Amino acid sequence: MTHDEFPTDEPAVVTCGLPYANGDLHVGHLRSIVSGDAFARALGSLGQETAFVCGTDMHGTPVALNAADADTDPESYASAYHEQFAETFPQFNVDFDHYGTTHDETNVDLTQSFVRSWLDEEYVFEREIQVAWDANEDQPLPDRYVEGTCPYCGETARGDECDDGCQRHLEPGEIEDPVSTLTGNPAEYRTREHEFLRLSEFQEYLSGFLDRLDGTDNARNQPREWVEGELDDLCITRDMDWGIDYPGDGEEDLVLYVWVDAPIEYVAATKQYSEQSAFDWERAWQFDGETRPGTQWEDDWTDDGGELIHVIGQDIIQHHTVFWPAMLRGAGYNEPRAVMACGFVNLAGDAFSTSRNRAVWADDYLDAGFHPDLFRYQIVTGSEFTADVNFSWETLQERTNNDLVGVLGNFLYRSLLFAHRNFDGTPDADVSDEVRGEIAEATDAVRAAVNDYSVRGLGEAPVDLARFGNEYIQRNEPWKLTDDDPERAAQVIRDCVQLAKACAVLMQPVLPGKAERLWEQLGEDGSVHGTALDDALVAPPATFDEPTELFDEIEDETVEELTAQLEARVEAATDTHESEADEESTVTDLEPLADDRISFDEFQDLDLRVGEIQTAEGIEGADDLARLEVDIGHETRQIVAGIKQLHDLDALPGSRVVVVANLEKTELFGIESNGMVLAAGEQADLLTTHDDAVPGTKVR
Ligand code: 2FM
Ligand code: ZN
Repeated sequence: MTHDEFPTDEPAVVTCGLPYANGDLHVGHLRSIVSGDAFARALGSLGQETAFVCGTDMHGTPVALNAADADTDPESYASAYHEQFAETFPQFNVDFDHYGTTHDETNVDLTQSFVRSWLDEEYVFEREIQVAWDANEDQPLPDRYVEGTCPYCGETARGDECDDGCQRHLEPGEIEDPVSTLTGNPAEYRTREHEFLRLSEFQEYLSGFLDRLDGTDNARNQPREWVEGELDDLCITRDMDWGIDYPGDGEEDLVLYVWVDAPIEYVAATKQYSEQSAFDWERAWQFDGETRPGTQWEDDWTDDGGELIHVIGQDIIQHHTVFWPAMLRGAGYNEPRAVMACGFVNLAGDAFSTSRNRAVWADDYLDAGFHPDLFRYQIVTGSEFTADVNFSWETLQERTNNDLVGVLGNFLYRSLLFAHRNFDGTPDADVSDEVRGEIAEATDAVRAAVNDYSVRGLGEAPVDLARFGNEYIQRNEPWKLTDDDPERAAQVIRDCVQLAKACAVLMQPVLPGKAERLWEQLGEDGSVHGTALDDALVAPPATFDEPTELFDEIEDETVEELTAQLEARVEAATDTHESEADEESTVTDLEPLADDRISFDEFQDLDLRVGEIQTAEGIEGADDLARLEVDIGHETRQIVAGIKQLHDLDALPGSRVVVVANLEKTELFGIESNGMVLAAGEQADLLTTHDDAVPGTKVR
């Protein structure tokens, strides 16, 4: 690792990807935001000075198009969403130090000053390019105003992003077979002059930057091929009215591309936070070395400046690991220390589709009346941070009832109740070496989780400690000791109270609301927020009141009701969507039946077997591939399947599948694939058995 371990002496800034002001928030948005909040809180508990900032992404075609559909102007439209977002995040216990907007004066000024620095350093040049044009409307079609085919992977792409395919950013003019999203007519290309950032000059720098970059592996690996291939210069202007004006001379009709001003809001929001606090935004963001790239990028780099950590969704890795570091460096700013890119959120095993209302909206969760920390815990511990995570009311119930009620709540309540009833609070005894050691290990696990950028580890730490606590109580049976050996009983309960306090400190990042309530139950003064990890070993107050249960079970009926509501909504939206679609095109979408017949003998050549998935995990760095271990009776096979984005991998073990057992072995992403799992259609609907044929059974 190039960077010093946390905590360092420099200020840290944790940011989350800015939500576009073009629609309601759903649990997909909340995953990276809640993770960023937990990470920032945990960093703080290590003693790292930390600012946690974000804002609303107000500009760009995503907002302009939706505002036009809503028959309003983009500013009013985006501002209404901004207000809504700013009110929603605290309801999920997300505590930004500053939550701004890309449209406020600080960001407008700072963005224009970035561009002026690039102009001064001659990183900006003008070029004639072909931009998509709607001849009927006689208007340019920037970004999401145009749809077509991605030139890199052949998938349908929207404007500047191939979000259903290879996830690459697309430059104006790159999309093939362009169609106007305004009229549905084929678009033509017209010549226009635009401004470009010389990204190609930063190639060597970016390569060194990726070597130094901390965070999750996907954020380092995915951009490698882009940075090491041919790096296209970045068009930084658009033919639009809505956005920040390009500050160069003679280009009054151009605004800056939304991906220029959006990340600069990270800096602007930190600056605004500094104006209300002692935080030094310049120390965090400003690099005191050279702004101009020389040939000695590596030697040029110093670990000066603060620790900049970007928590994002995996669909915007390229923007944060290629464009953004070049933008910063070109304007003389510090570079990101880490990028943490999380997987998507699936709904009951399948991808979200907001256009089909196949999503759990932030309001659905809040209206259901569950405590925000239950969601936070489920989304953080439901999978590894880089893998997709499943959200359903059932998984929320399972995690809550098993872990939070069954383990954590159970330990806390029984310990504190016993302590209150028998000792009026914390017994007068010393904490045993065993428990002291266990708490020290738990706090070390949190330090390690922060340094490994493992948000999941932050969620698991308090539950693991409580699991130990339950085992410790069972083993020592204090209820048998109160009469026979009161001193020993005091000792055991003293340990339990200390474990409870340590749980509060460890709960703070992921379960902040519940941690605060536990803090009060322990009779502690002040707030658990702002406590240091080492406080886990400081004695709690001598007396405290009778505790109440911290978590309530989620009842089956509640889950059934919410699930039925959600399914009905998704079904209604899907029906509407399908009835709106051209029926004929649905039929022609089916692949034609094969003309050539095969003999029964030829079919018999296929050795199809029933298999049972034992393990399923995403392959690091591969967008779509998962590594499966499948029991096929005679043996367990390693099979690579293109299902990473399409299934909740954690839910697959135990599923029956059909395997082509005698397919030639192959290697995908350097991993041997020994067989094939059969699946239907684009969504890779896995073929399974109707009954429970045992693994290895031949399929005929
Ligand atoms: O993809 C998005 O939703 C963008 N609004 C994220 C912007 S993040 C940043 F860089 F500002
Ligand atoms: Zn693509």
